[in-house]
Amino acid sequence: MTERILIFDTTLRDGEQSPGCSMNTKEKVELARQLARLGVDVLEAGFPIASQDDFEAVRAVAQSLKDGPVIAGLARAKDTDIDRAWEAVRAAERPCIHTFIATSEIHIKYKLKSTQEEVLEAAVAAVKRAKGYTENVEFSAEDAHRTNQDFLCRAVEAAIRAGATTITIPDTVGYGLPWEFGERIRDLMNRVPGMERVVVSAHCHNDLGLGVANSLEAIRAGARQIECTINGIGERAGNASLEELVMALRTRRDFMKFDTGIRTEEIYRTSKLLQSITGVKVQPNKAIVGANAFAHEAGIHQHGVLQDPLTYEIMTPESVGVPKSQLVLGKHSGRHAFKKRLQELGVELTEEDLNKAFGRFKDLCDRKKEVFDEDLLALVEDELLATNEGYSLEHLQFTSGTNIVPTATVRLKLQEELRQESGWGDGPVDAAYKAIDLITKIPGKLLEYQIRAITAGKDALGEVTTAVEIEGERVVGKGSSTDVVEASVRAYLNAINKVVARRGHGKRSGEATR
Ligand code: KIV
Ligand code: ZN
Repeated sequence: MTERILIFDTTLRDGEQSPGCSMNTKEKVELARQLARLGVDVLEAGFPIASQDDFEAVRAVAQSLKDGPVIAGLARAKDTDIDRAWEAVRAAERPCIHTFIATSEIHIKYKLKSTQEEVLEAAVAAVKRAKGYTENVEFSAEDAHRTNQDFLCRAVEAAIRAGATTITIPDTVGYGLPWEFGERIRDLMNRVPGMERVVVSAHCHNDLGLGVANSLEAIRAGARQIECTINGIGERAGNASLEELVMALRTRRDFMKFDTGIRTEEIYRTSKLLQSITGVKVQPNKAIVGANAFAHEAGIHQHGVLQDPLTYEIMTPESVGVPKSQLVLGKHSGRHAFKKRLQELGVELTEEDLNKAFGRFKDLCDRKKEVFDEDLLALVEDELLATNEGYSLEHLQFTSGTNIVPTATVRLKLQEELRQESGWGDGPVDAAYKAIDLITKIPGKLLEYQIRAITAGKDALGEVTTAVEIEGERVVGKGSSTDVVEASVRAYLNAINKVVARRGHGKRSGEATR
C-alpha cells in the first residue's frame, strides 16, 4: 500500500523572495494556473501583509483557481497579518491561513526580542484567530531545526491544542543533516500528544544543498507534506526543489512507497514557464529540468540510449514532459529531422516559417558545430514568435571602441511602418536602447541585464535577458543572436512588445503557433 505525500508549493511566496524572482499579479496568476495543472495540493500564493501588490496577487490567485489546490496565505503570528491573510484568501474554494513564529533561542532573543513564554502565547493566539476564519490552519515554528527540542515540543503541542491542522517543521537556514532532521521529526511524533491528528509538514532550505535529502528523510520519519518550489528557488540558496523531490519519490518507489498527486509530465513546462517569467535560468546540469539533464553527449552514451534508454537514464525525459532525449542536431541534419525535433518540442510551424527557420538553422550550423534544443527554441522564438506583435528589428548598425563615442542606428518596423533613429551612449547597447526609446516613445529603465551562452563553445548563441521597468512595472524580455549587441536589442524589444501587446495595438497576423 502506498501512502500519499502532499505537495505544498511555495514558489509564489518563498520562491518569489529570491533575488530577481519577483513577479507581478498577472504573472503569478499564470504560474498558479500551471501549478494547478501540475497537481500541487497546496499553493502558497504570497504574504498578503507584505505589500499591497502581494495582497492583490494572493487575492487574484484565490479568485482565479476553481477546483484547484488549497490556497494558502502567509501571516506572522499577529492579528493584523492574520486578518489581512484571510481577506486575501477568503475567495478561494479551499482557503488556508499559514501562520508562523520563530522558536529558536537566537531568533527569539535577537529578532523578536521576546521570551519563550511570549512566543507560546502569540502562537496560540494566532492559531485561534486564524481558526475563527477557516478550519484549515497551518502553524510553522520558524527555525525549528535550531530550536531546543523540549521547547519545540511545547510550541507544537500548544499550536495543536489551539486548533492547527498542519504543523510545519522548517529548517529555515538549511543547517540540518538528513538523519538529524529526520530524528527531530521522529522525536516530535513520539512525544507530542495530538501529533497523529495533524498533517506533519517539512520545509527545508537548501543552504548546504540538502533541502531535498532532508525532506526525504522527513518523510521517512513521518512527515506527510513537503514544502518546496519549482526549480528550487527561494531565500538565499533556495528551497527543496519540487521536481527533484517528486521524481526521487517516483523513481525510487521500490524503496519509498509513497505517491504524490503531481502530474510529472507537466514538470518541464512549469519549470520553463517560471524561467521565462522571471528571466532566472536554471543551470544546465540542474537535475530533472536542466538543459543537460537528459542530453547524452558522448557517442557511447548516445549509442546505448538508442538501444535501450535505461542504459543511461534512470527516468525517461517523457515522464517529466521533455519529449525525447535531447540528442543534438548538426550540419548534416536534414529538414525532416529539423521539423520532427521542433514538433517534439511542441512547435508547429507553417511551411513558410519552417523554411525560414530551417534557413536560419543551416546558417547557425555553419557557425556552430552542434545545435541543441535550447538553440532551436531560441531561434524559433526569437525569429518567429516574438516578432508576431509590436516592433520588429529591421536594421541595426553600431560603432564602438576605445576613445570613441559609441553610437547606434536602429530601424524598427511597426505594422507596415518603418521608423529609424540614432543614439549614443556608454556603450553600443546603451546607444541602441536610446535609439529604440526615441522610436517607440515607451521609455524603459533597465533593471537587470543578463547574458549567457545558450550552450557551450565560442560559437554559442548568446541569449540576453533583460528586466526593464516600463510604466512602473517590471517586464522581462529575451533575445538571442550570435551577435551580443543584436541579442541585447532583441531582448529589450521583446519587453517593449509585451507592453505594446497589452495595450492591444501593433498586432500582426500570428503565423507560428506553439
Ligand atoms: O523558512 C521558513 O521558516 C519559512 C516559514 C515562514 C515557514 O519560510
Ligand atoms: Zn522558508
